[in-house]
Amino acid sequence: MSWTKVASLADIPQGTMKQVTIDDLDIALYHTAEGLFATSDVCTHASAFLTDGKLVGCIVECPKHGGKFDVKTGAAKAFPCVIPVETFAVETRGEEIWLDA
Ligand code: FES
Repeated sequence: MSWTKVASLADIPQGTMKQVTIDDLDIALYHTAEGLFATSDVCTHASAFLTDGKLVGCIVECPKHGGKFDVKTGAAKAFPCVIPVETFAVETRGEEIWLDA
């Protein structure tokens, strides 16, 4: 694990999400009213990018079968998702967003 600059705050307005890639890892970065969070961008049910789905509050809905995850904890919140997604630490340094992956 090491810290990498992945975006600027201007790139991801509150209420939106963005895919970032570190090495071969596809990571979803979320800007919620509760802050910035990051998880694997790959749904644990089958193969879909969560960033192609919908972000409502701190819950992301997968575009493929409608499963849901809590972006703060990675916990699966709606069937057919039962396996949590991996989470990553995020921090801001001034206007920059850094991720530990
Ligand atoms: Fe995400 Fe099925 S691939 S819910």
